[in-house]
Amino acid sequence: MRNLLLFVILLLSSFQLTAQSKDVIIIETKNTAIVLTVAGNQRLLQSYIGKKLVTADYMQMKAGREVYLTAGIDNQFEPALRIIHADGNPSLELQYVSSKTTADAYSKRTDIVLRDPVYPVEVIMHYVSYYNEDVIKCWTDIVHREKKPVTLTHYASSLLHLNADEYWLTQFHGDWAREVNMVEEKLTNGIKSLESKLGARTNFYQTQMFFVSLNKPSTETDGEVIAGTLGWTGNFKFTFEIDQRNGLRVLSGINPYATEYNLQPGEIFQTPEFIFSYSAAGKGTASRNIHRWARNYAVLDGNKPRLTLLNNWEATHTNFTETKLVELFDEAKNLGIDLFLLDDGWFGNKYPRNDDKAGLGDWQEDKKKLPSGIGYLVQEATKKEIKFGIWLEPEMVNPKSELYEQHPEWILKLPNREENYGRNQLVLDMVNPQVQDFVFNLVNDLLTKYPGIAFIKWDCNRSMTNAYSPYLKNLQTHLYIDYTKGLYKVMERIRAKHPHLPIMLCAGGGGRTDYGALKYFTEFWPSDNTDGLERIFIQWGYSYFFPANTISAHVTSMGKQQSLKFRTDVAMMGKMGYDIRVNNFTKQELQFSNEAVKTYKRMSDVIWFGDLYRLVSPYEENRAVLMYVNENKSKSILFNYNMNIRRKDLFNRVLLQGLDPEKKYRITEVNLFPETKSTQPDNDKVVSGEYLMKVGLNLTPGRVNSLTSNVFEITAE
Ligand code: GLA
Repeated sequence: MRNLLLFVILLLSSFQLTAQSKDVIIIETKNTAIVLTVAGNQRLLQSYIGKKLVTADYMQMKAGREVYLTAGIDNQFEPALRIIHADGNPSLELQYVSSKTTADAYSKRTDIVLRDPVYPVEVIMHYVSYYNEDVIKCWTDIVHREKKPVTLTHYASSLLHLNADEYWLTQFHGDWAREVNMVEEKLTNGIKSLESKLGARTNFYQTQMFFVSLNKPSTETDGEVIAGTLGWTGNFKFTFEIDQRNGLRVLSGINPYATEYNLQPGEIFQTPEFIFSYSAAGKGTASRNIHRWARNYAVLDGNKPRLTLLNNWEATHTNFTETKLVELFDEAKNLGIDLFLLDDGWFGNKYPRNDDKAGLGDWQEDKKKLPSGIGYLVQEATKKEIKFGIWLEPEMVNPKSELYEQHPEWILKLPNREENYGRNQLVLDMVNPQVQDFVFNLVNDLLTKYPGIAFIKWDCNRSMTNAYSPYLKNLQTHLYIDYTKGLYKVMERIRAKHPHLPIMLCAGGGGRTDYGALKYFTEFWPSDNTDGLERIFIQWGYSYFFPANTISAHVTSMGKQQSLKFRTDVAMMGKMGYDIRVNNFTKQELQFSNEAVKTYKRMSDVIWFGDLYRLVSPYEENRAVLMYVNENKSKSILFNYNMNIRRKDLFNRVLLQGLDPEKKYRITEVNLFPETKSTQPDNDKVVSGEYLMKVGLNLTPGRVNSLTSNVFEITAE
């Protein structure tokens, strides 16, 4: 097996490009380094990426591969950047000009200026390295001073060159109600790409996150691996190209499909952030790095607590009255949760929203269903000492709506073609500043009129088809990019006025889950599939890149064959909430759920802000085991889910991770159903962290039943 150090040596011998030692740029975190060097011809090379060298002998590195490959001159592979100049010349050369480093207490930023020697085009590459989290993010600014616009046809945020014997790619693909299915495969020569062309609700079929493992598939605890994701709520593309020398090029950025961008002189084209972490110890470390980075720097209020909530979608759909909702407030109160979330169906008068066929776009209270209005609901909720939240789908419109009648020019649709619907609706033209104002005002007016609104669920239930922006006229190739920028502009305005309001990102389930959006949102809805068994896989999938406090998980009546305890235990591994008729609970179920909410509140700090260790994968066994450990290792929460157990399934003891070997821990099974006792052999034992990590726990003694689960609180004495 070749390691990355050897890779450098290999590069030294196989490439002719030589760097000048004064021009070595080092980008470092606690355990990772990237070394960029300037070749004799002034091209900027990536000379190293991987584990930080103990000797830090980076000045010796003098070779590599061009870091931001352009098209049209000598590069014959997929370019990071391709420009057609104003005079039609389709080539670009980028030479190193200068670099500058600035730092704060937590991160270091390196800006590198590259310039074409002939055409007035400049690229500024930005790297921000987060030392403690071992995460690096990078993006580029592209700008020119030609007399007329240039056309950008390719514009990656990042190009990484890797070298190993083999490359193993892990992707997360899916569909509605079956999001983030994890698949790992060996890359072969040629190009493999993971991408989206959906526009809105962009990552419905493919989530913008991947692992590349070097030399062999990485495990949770072993192997060299790079975890990468793109902070962009629009079309994205990751290209993995193995070249003739078995080198791998990983290009990440906006998908340039149907998106040639006309860049005006002086205008800056900023690519979105590509975020990655390199781990020499498997996927577990890479996930924990990304989680920590996300909580500290990426997700809005990532280190702050979240609200538990009761949603009424699965319980009532659009069929409710004012009186019924107030009853539900009581149910929320009975459960002991913080907030009631009113879902779809509260608006529309000429075209009332009684199902998904009408009303979208008409954001006035339905006078029949809610004669006393939202204000009354907020007031009633407040009386009952719970908070109130509301569902919106601001970017969409039903053809059966007043908005459609009043503003046909605000809608994305092709001239000369029939309208094409998804869930009976069309997408608004977020490129149009008037539409941006409409969306901003909808949210801002609601929050101003009802300051008691404490939560928003922001939905987006279809992708783009027949997409054409009336506003963009003959610049249609800007649509996909400008739509996303339009969304961000609105979110910037909302956040300027309402900086901390929790807003859930939802897109018919997990169609929008990315760090571009999570700057503005506090959590996301991973899937409309809330069956406990299915959710184990879905939440497991998202856990590779997102911390638990962003992954909403509700207890519902989907998956009725599973006990309420099983469904509750599954929701507890994420940001727990409810979407169920509490009135239908038996006395014991209500007692159990009351206790569960209290237990969750006691433990949620560890789940939300702790380190995640995935111990047994549901992809490998008929069970799933994971644990969270708090920062000072004094407390851990362990979840054990037995799935579809077969008669002869064999289960080994489970070795815990992340504990202090020297501390003594008490193991307590919690969240037991009333009048049941723990049958776990290790319940109530006090053992050392070393024991738990070396000898482990027997979580499946004797025969276990399918769809059963355990939650343990593991506390240092
Ligand atoms: C989407 C969401 C659901 C619910 C419905 C309402 O499907 O994912 O949670 O809000 O819309 O129409």
